[in-house]
Amino acid sequence: MEEYKLPELPYAYNALEPYIDEATMRLHHTKHHQAYVNGLNAALKKLKEAQEKGDFSSIQPILRQIAFHGSGHTMHCIFWSVMCPPQKSKEPTSGKLHSQIVKDFGSMESFKKTFSEAAKAVEGNGWAVLAWEPIGKRLLVLQAENHQKLVVQGSVPILVLDVWEHAYYLKYQNNRAAYVDGWWNVVNWQEVERRFEVVKNGLG
Ligand SMILES: [Fe+2]
Repeated sequence: MEEYKLPELPYAYNALEPYIDEATMRLHHTKHHQAYVNGLNAALKKLKEAQEKGDFSSIQPILRQIAFHGSGHTMHCIFWSVMCPPQKSKEPTSGKLHSQIVKDFGSMESFKKTFSEAAKAVEGNGWAVLAWEPIGKRLLVLQAENHQKLVVQGSVPILVLDVWEHAYYLKYQNNRAAYVDGWWNVVNWQEVERRFEVVKNGLG
């Protein structure tokens, strides 16, 4: 069985300064994300052992661990990819993603306000998510508690914001709102547009 691995960041640990500091990025990537990778591999190993023994008495907690650590891994992979140095962040004013955002939220400003308020209001640890929902063919703003709760099944995240305290506490302490407001300066809109076009074309 091939193990999951921690991906390299597509930029240096200090690349998102001053909005996300180097120390936070280093800890977040090498400790927190690594822990989800390890947890996912460990849970998959336990499931394999259960299959080999034919003993499924622990399947419920094992699958719970796969959901938590698996989502922790995938959400962090997306998170790193949808950020970039502030000088490279360019919010779209036209194009397919921009049109879809205007269609579903009224305007770019209205979308950003909705997403920011969702991020600030996550109860405890979690994420704000912009996802493509392929049945209704529309974008949804969602909150994910922990990594995997409250999501709409079948929808695919195209932009995610980590609001676990580990993502901002060193620099912002308890001021999550300042972190969320600053974070818009490091959004890699090109990658968000790429993800949107892939999932929209791929899933209808
Ligand atoms: Fe995180």
